[in-house]
Amino acid sequence: MRMFKKVMTLAVSAAFMCGLASCSKNPVADPSASSASAQTEKSLVVTEKETTETSETEKDSKFGKALVVYFSCTGNTKDVALKIANEVGCGTYEIVPSKAYTTDDLNYNNKKSRATREQNDKNARPEIEGTVDLSSYDTIFLGYPIWFAKAPRILCTFVEGQNFEGKKIIPFCTSGSSIIGSSATELAELAQNKGRWISGTRFGANVKSTDVAQWIAVVEGEI
Ligand SMILES: Cc1cc2nc3c(=O)[nH]c(=O)nc-3n(C[C@H](O)[C@H](O)[C@H](O)COP(=O)(O)O)c2cc1C
Repeated sequence: MRMFKKVMTLAVSAAFMCGLASCSKNPVADPSASSASAQTEKSLVVTEKETTETSETEKDSKFGKALVVYFSCTGNTKDVALKIANEVGCGTYEIVPSKAYTTDDLNYNNKKSRATREQNDKNARPEIEGTVDLSSYDTIFLGYPIWFAKAPRILCTFVEGQNFEGKKIIPFCTSGSSIIGSSATELAELAQNKGRWISGTRFGANVKSTDVAQWIAVVEGEI
């Protein structure tokens, strides 16, 4: 019976998706995750996964309904975010800047580059494209690269715009070598310490799925 329900869910989802595809060339936005158009297409896939495969994982896991929210300019954090989502069986939401960062913007050797200037200005709040409604989620994995030992200022924009009350927030970062340090506690403060902020971790580039899975098991044991 359970299997029949699952097959039916998949069939209905597939029919729904085909119907949408034939109606419009534009991807349909995940109602809880609206962002730039490229992101919207990704969110569509995520939504389908959430409504089919995720439900049983959610029931069994201590994370409840989870979402991996991440910011990534050169792909390292995105890679980890996707691995977390795959392991937990949940969706992702990418924080997309209204103005994309160019290679020059990211030049940390240039004191005048956009990233350097933003990180040196504690009041800098780069604008985010679109919004996400987190109200239905129990757990938010929050991922970002380390920029000059801190979270990029766009994470400040993000956390200040959310209410994490009643949620667990699990930060993770990627970096060349720096630890997560105080970057996550600084974000928690900007979020008025609402929600339960779990101590986060740092990954390098090209992390193995097994390492991510191992970390998730440890975190799940702690919460
Ligand atoms: C502006 C800027 C500053 C950075 N500062 C640091 C740093 O302080 N410590 C470090 O280990 N890596 C630093 N990095 C390297 C990134 O943290 C690392 O490459 C990260 O994995 C990039 O993530 P992404 O590919 O998701 O954008 C910096 C990179 C940039 C662009």
